[in-house]
Amino acid sequence: MSNYHIKNLEEYFQVYRKSVRDPETFWEEIAEENFVWQERWQQVLDFDLTVPRVNWFKGAKLNITENCIDRHLYAHGSKTAILFEPNDPSETSQHITYKQLHKRVCKFANVLKDQGIKKGDRVCIYLPMIPELAVALLACARIGAIHSVVFAGFSATALSTRINDCDCTLVVTSDGAFRGEKTIDLKAIVDEALGSCKGVKSVLVVKRTHSEIPMVENRDMWLQPLLDSASNHCEPEPMDAEDPLFILYTSGSTGKPKGMVHTTAGYMVYSAYTFKNVFQYREKDVYWCTADIGWITGHSYIVYGPLANAATTVLFEGVPSYPDWSRFWAIVEKHKVNQFYTAPTAIRALAKERLDFAENHDLSSLKILGTVGEPINEEAWHWYNDNIGKKRCPIVDTWWQTETGGIMISPIPHATPTIPTFATLPLPGIQPALMDEIGNELSGNSVSGRLCIRFPWPSMARTIWGDHQRYKDTYFSAFKGYYFTGDGALRDTTGYYRITGRVDDVIIVSGHNLGTAPIEDAINEHPAVAESAIVGFPHKIKGNALYGFVILKETGEQRDPANLRKEINQIITEHIGPIAKLDKIQFTKGLPKTRSGKIMRRILRKIACGETDRLGDISTLLNPEVVDAIIEDVL
Ligand code: PRX
Repeated sequence: MSNYHIKNLEEYFQVYRKSVRDPETFWEEIAEENFVWQERWQQVLDFDLTVPRVNWFKGAKLNITENCIDRHLYAHGSKTAILFEPNDPSETSQHITYKQLHKRVCKFANVLKDQGIKKGDRVCIYLPMIPELAVALLACARIGAIHSVVFAGFSATALSTRINDCDCTLVVTSDGAFRGEKTIDLKAIVDEALGSCKGVKSVLVVKRTHSEIPMVENRDMWLQPLLDSASNHCEPEPMDAEDPLFILYTSGSTGKPKGMVHTTAGYMVYSAYTFKNVFQYREKDVYWCTADIGWITGHSYIVYGPLANAATTVLFEGVPSYPDWSRFWAIVEKHKVNQFYTAPTAIRALAKERLDFAENHDLSSLKILGTVGEPINEEAWHWYNDNIGKKRCPIVDTWWQTETGGIMISPIPHATPTIPTFATLPLPGIQPALMDEIGNELSGNSVSGRLCIRFPWPSMARTIWGDHQRYKDTYFSAFKGYYFTGDGALRDTTGYYRITGRVDDVIIVSGHNLGTAPIEDAINEHPAVAESAIVGFPHKIKGNALYGFVILKETGEQRDPANLRKEINQIITEHIGPIAKLDKIQFTKGLPKTRSGKIMRRILRKIACGETDRLGDISTLLNPEVVDAIIEDVL
């Protein structure tokens, strides 16, 4: 039996028990047998969750790109590493072999070096889903630069905040992006963002849309000519196990986005291990994750996890609806995809369309289906199971977070029996705990509470860039000695976990994590707005949508409400991006507040969800009378 590849339920339980009984030996064996190291570790794990301090494979030296590329060159050099499927189906797909990937990464790494980038420097990557995006990540990792990918749907303001937060000195972008029928002027967004990013010295521009764009002298450079003259050879930088590999921003319930820092060795071991097991990847399989590399799912399960396993990973530039809603299924048929991993929001959108979009395609190559990003509702689960998996493909409902780096709770196909809406059992090495509100761990089954993790795992984020105190406060203070996820969960009679959703002010819209505070801050910038509060309410496709309660200033009250609503969404688009737009905006005279002045979102949430008969006790409010007024005008 190998610890690395679990094939049945009995093995799962054996491996799981071992991983809890002796986590250090467990991870040490996996690390030793499945990766290449330049120097071995002196200590497998050193930690104190109250500090919090976590070091895995302390003292080891490695480079993740050697593990994701170089070591496969002998046996898999001609195998497709990245299978690029362009937005436009009439454009040819590209099969980038491991050998070609090696060359492209080395060249790109040399270009970065020529620009003065060295180990520890931060590089911002703001690109569409094209091969250069994956290559850029790996090129940074090759030379030890820390990549900070910003999803290319974010606005100029959101981009500049992220560039400045971690002091990036170089940005990689493209002239534009193709997204369905649209062409997006990415470079113009970068130009606008850089107006307030004084630290950026160079911008490397990939040619994708061939749009006419202005180039700023002494700052902007087309990437291709630099690549053409760069050497194919670049030695992998020796990295300490705990050297940062990347920063990835995620929304918090308050304040600015949190730059989660992931380090090298633990992240590599865990993303590779979980990829192998959750997707049961076999040598000739073609694996496709539809996420964007701008999110953690793309980092771990399009780039690092698959490549560390010498897999073929599909990178799709487009959207599920272009040229029509059969696109996903056409790609599955075209490339004979074996594992398909997507988000519940995509499944719900696809399920709403005609069934023949799926039926007209041969989906028989599929072996495993996955979902991630939000709870999957029963209806969507069955649609996926019946129409895509044809009841023969196990569905892995994978629960995890940007902060966890890899999948934490998930079935293992052909081992763990699945139940719709249950993420089922923790993966080896993961020790979940459910807590009550006053901090007691709930023992036994048939309980629900706040989901925590009791013991470190290799790919946990180590800190928030530049703010360790915030890292401690957010994740390690609510329950001493535990990592708190921010999610609620229940454990059923058999020990299966079902994630019930966020218990904080983060709202998951179409699988994107959105904090309410930054959206409220954006709205409050509107000259007609006095105050606002955002809550989530259930939405058939997006899972949740945003409902804004907005108090207007006197000047605003005289304005046309329809125009104001447009302007409010416009300001949100400018500050954050279109993903954070509000579905409903209700203008109101007041917001329910506690005596200490805090907005009682619990009440607003109930109102937005239409549960006005279940508001609970509102007598402790400072202004209980506003509640009736809000209910009267509810949209
Ligand atoms: O609330 C959980 C939800 O998504 C949050 C993490 O979001 P993010 O950091 O953007 O990472 C998403 C991709 C890993 C979690 O706190 N979530 C994620 N997966 C699931 C889920 N909720 C229920 N079921 C899931 N499978």
